[in-house]
Amino acid sequence: MSFAFSLFNQCRKPNGWLGQLNLWSMNRRHSKVTDWGLQQVSIRSRDTLLDVGCGGGRTVSKLAAIAVEGKVYGVDFSAESVAVSCKTNRKSIADGRVEIRQNSVSQLPFHDRMFDLVTAAETHYYWPDLPANFQEVMRVLKAGGTFLLIAEAYKGGKYDQMLRRLEELKTIMTYAHLTVEEHRDLFNQTGFQDVQVLEKYEKGWICAWGKKPA
Ligand SMILES: C[S@@+](CC[C@H](N)C(=O)[O-])C[C@H]1O[C@@H](n2cnc3c(N)ncnc32)[C@H](O)[C@@H]1O
Repeated sequence: MSFAFSLFNQCRKPNGWLGQLNLWSMNRRHSKVTDWGLQQVSIRSRDTLLDVGCGGGRTVSKLAAIAVEGKVYGVDFSAESVAVSCKTNRKSIADGRVEIRQNSVSQLPFHDRMFDLVTAAETHYYWPDLPANFQEVMRVLKAGGTFLLIAEAYKGGKYDQMLRRLEELKTIMTYAHLTVEEHRDLFNQTGFQDVQVLEKYEKGWICAWGKKPA
């Protein structure tokens, strides 16, 4: 159980050599669900993009491959995640097309209305205060900009039973276990418009997105 606890917390805030291994592994494990999520929204070549909880940086590199004339930022509160993200994206960083910063979603280090799209893959369920954190994402979005959330951990999903078991064993700490409808409500209550939630139950995938009012 303590190994499971340690592994889960290595996903919440990767640290040390085990954290590094986990980050490289998550870059691989989360790639397909991320591709599926990114296909749901439109991304233009000149867009300014942010990936929150960027982990090992693979989503940042996917975004940079689309926004070839734009700029992509990654933010993560783990020093280890920032280090691995920088390695994953070293060429684009050298070219000035990608920047990675160490910060929490609670206080994003960007001015208001900066981004066309903010993404968050496999991270929001760890955030400390979802309503406030969604407001912070809203703040940095341009009017008409989109917030896209991608995850495999949600209530009622394919992995629900396993997650409930981990919760009972107190293996998971500070974990937001939301249903599809609760995700929709969170977007609506924050003030996002055109909110959509898509579930691919057989894969255990969910993605949700909404637009900041123009
Ligand atoms: C499960 S990993 C997912 C990483 C990456 N997005 C992916 O799909 O592979 C969760 C990441 O979110 C980051 N994270 C968790 N809570 C955070 C917070 N409050 N602010 C910023 N980053 C956070 C963790 O440090 C970790 O790198």
